[in-house]
Amino acid sequence: MANASGLVAPTVPSLKRRFSPPLGIYRSAFWFYDGVSRRALCFSAAQAAEKLSPAQPQSRRLVSKGCKLVGCGSAIPSIQISNDNLSEIVDTSDEWISVRTGIKNRSILSRQDSLTALATEAAQKALQMAEVEPNDVDLVLLCTSTPEDLFGSAPQIQKALGCGNNPLAYDITAACSGFLLGLVSAACYIRGGGFNNVLVIGADALSRYVDWKDRGSCILFGDAAGAVLLQSCDSEEDGLFAFDMHSDGEGQRHLKASMKEDKTDSELGTNGSLLGLLPKGSSSYSCIEMNGKEVFRFAVRVVPHSIELALEKAGLAVSDIDWLVLHQANQRIIDAVATRLEVPQERVISNLANYGNTSAASIPLALDEAVRSGKVRAGDTIATAGFGAGLTWGSAIVRWG
Ligand code: ACO
Repeated sequence: MANASGLVAPTVPSLKRRFSPPLGIYRSAFWFYDGVSRRALCFSAAQAAEKLSPAQPQSRRLVSKGCKLVGCGSAIPSIQISNDNLSEIVDTSDEWISVRTGIKNRSILSRQDSLTALATEAAQKALQMAEVEPNDVDLVLLCTSTPEDLFGSAPQIQKALGCGNNPLAYDITAACSGFLLGLVSAACYIRGGGFNNVLVIGADALSRYVDWKDRGSCILFGDAAGAVLLQSCDSEEDGLFAFDMHSDGEGQRHLKASMKEDKTDSELGTNGSLLGLLPKGSSSYSCIEMNGKEVFRFAVRVVPHSIELALEKAGLAVSDIDWLVLHQANQRIIDAVATRLEVPQERVISNLANYGNTSAASIPLALDEAVRSGKVRAGDTIATAGFGAGLTWGSAIVRWG
């Protein structure tokens, strides 16, 4: 199991904070900005001391900025599928799905639609809200498990947005925890790397990997894209109070979409020649295989604990949280986590009735709706948590605005 230690921001100005955490950037690493090329270098504390020796170039300096969430956006595909629609293709019912999951509808991409275009739309809306021009974007992180190019789709979004300065753009794959991972990565780039505007996009089209004959899983998923813009600010205004993240490869057997076993073409490789050993070159992935009960148990066990750990690192209590924005997988998971943490229902954001589980998109989609409807307001403290395939899970305590 790999643990990540939380970022502790230097003195966050919040009336609700019980104490200011110790000054520091990271518990295990320092980041440097070389002052010229926007190249982030990560060193251990000991290495950092060495690197800061007088022999090093004067231009290298320790950067300690804060970051804040200043824009969000989302986009939904046009094809809607209700529970009743699903009951026409598998043995299920609106009642069963509603009671067991809380889901009523989901939207999916058509065969012609592009996830990259959906992600671009969400990102454009986030930029508009933040009043940031595409040319001022320094980094585009696309969190997805379903890219339209094996090598990553983020550069296509960078191109479609018209980010003229060729900012770095790359994909992050961590299933339903992907957005959270992107958010924390963005904070690291800003806090120590000299980046100013980072787009974090969560976008997934799991409908392309769902077995539409498996009633145990096809009822859950929908497609969507959500995005936030994370912007640099003074460290005193930092809006990512703490995080907690984990993975457990042992649990992968409960939720996976593995590469299909490659059947080498026996006709090509006669007499045991090398050609017979080579893959055919057209590999693909299997549909989602899920043990729903195990995933349910896992989520209800790890998510409250992770949020408690993040709150502790931030020096906050559950009563300091204005909103709980969890990955939208199942209403019963959301309710169980809220009950365990004793967060009242009116402070829990839930929109999965309309969209189902949209994987990496679910948190920014829920946040975007809550912000645009006026529920979440500038200065609100949000506890957010993602969990899913990997298995991966984690949480972050952030301030909106
Ligand atoms: N309609 C009707 N009956 C169904 C359906 C359906 N769609 N699906 C299963 N059933 C039946 C089962 O066959 C079983 O019947 P039996 O008792 O005769 O054997 C019965 O309903 C109960 O099935 P369970 O699997 O025990 O139902 P459960 O209450 O666990 O709910 C569900 C299943 C909804 C999948 C739930 O376990 C769940 O949501 N788990 C979490 C899954 C999840 O969040 N996955 C995504 C993680 S995010 C990511 O990274 C992609």
